[in-house]
Amino acid sequence: MAEINGKPAFDKPKVELHVHLDGAIRLKTVLDVAKRRGISLPVSTEEELKELCTVHEPATLTEFLGKFSHYMHVIAGDREAIKRIAYEFVETKAKEGVIYVEARYSPHFLANKGVEPLPWDQKPGDITPDDVVDLVNQGFKEGEQAFKTKARSILCCMRHMPNWSMEVVELCKKYHKDGVVAIDLAGDESMNCESYPGHKKAFEEAVRSNVHRTVHAGEVGPASVVREAVEVLKAERIGHGYHTLEDQNLYKQLLQQNMHFEMCPVSSRLTGACEPDFTKHPLITFKKDKANYSLNTDDPTIFNSTLNSDYEVVQKCMDFTEEEFKRLNINAAKSCFLPEKERETLLNQLYEAYGMRKSTSF
Ligand code: NI
Repeated sequence: MAEINGKPAFDKPKVELHVHLDGAIRLKTVLDVAKRRGISLPVSTEEELKELCTVHEPATLTEFLGKFSHYMHVIAGDREAIKRIAYEFVETKAKEGVIYVEARYSPHFLANKGVEPLPWDQKPGDITPDDVVDLVNQGFKEGEQAFKTKARSILCCMRHMPNWSMEVVELCKKYHKDGVVAIDLAGDESMNCESYPGHKKAFEEAVRSNVHRTVHAGEVGPASVVREAVEVLKAERIGHGYHTLEDQNLYKQLLQQNMHFEMCPVSSRLTGACEPDFTKHPLITFKKDKANYSLNTDDPTIFNSTLNSDYEVVQKCMDFTEEEFKRLNINAAKSCFLPEKERETLLNQLYEAYGMRKSTSF
């Protein structure tokens, strides 16, 4: 999506809390790595690969998930590639004016050892999920030094792989003070936690170990998935949560609790999570009610978008103002999973950049 007169919709420092590292890979990098590793792809140019990997019109979840299989096998199981995508991710975010980002990924999806079953039809290798976290950390640290944007990780459990979840929470604990700030649950929301108790166990361990928690819920699935995320998994933030509005009692309760919703407007249209007409988007209700939410890209590679695409769409179709952009970024900073002192520093950076005093209330 183009920028209006080349100027971003909100040209000030931003905070992003919901973006998948493996949904934010440069296609040029995929081509480079495929060449180096001798992996043949069905296409040879960046333009053709983009055609293959992006969603243009509202799609089904299956179509959307299928996009990852066009490139993940190139990056997974390769040390240099994993570190490189993390480093480049920080550069991309810095260019978008993001000063703090929480990127999420499944360490299992990038590994080729100690994962059952091996993802993406890979051959077994020597990179474990633990190695993946270490490599992403290295890329983020070098990226932060080079581009001055701070990046931290959220490790994802996958709904269809409950047997991975305990290892995910153990990795969150191991890297708690080293780059990893939280645990997430992603994937097909129709797989609830009663039928898949592995996730519940992992999230209980997260609570015991002071690991922060966010859950993809109410994106495509109904409000009951949001309720389960809050009540059973003790989520502190909700990924998407659009369908919370279908249960007004729950919605009011979460407004009162000041629950943070990680909103991804461009994504919500292209995954079919919401009606394609942006002027009827649930986000309009969240805005009217001054809810606590952020704006995020989710999977920019697959949506062929940037963070500005999301800002632009809400500015054009939902009457978002500069004041609202400031408010939602302050809320994102307040709801981020950094330790308290670092969160305060981040907030002060925003207050200063926005020309606001700390006591300003919305
Ligand atoms: Ni997501």
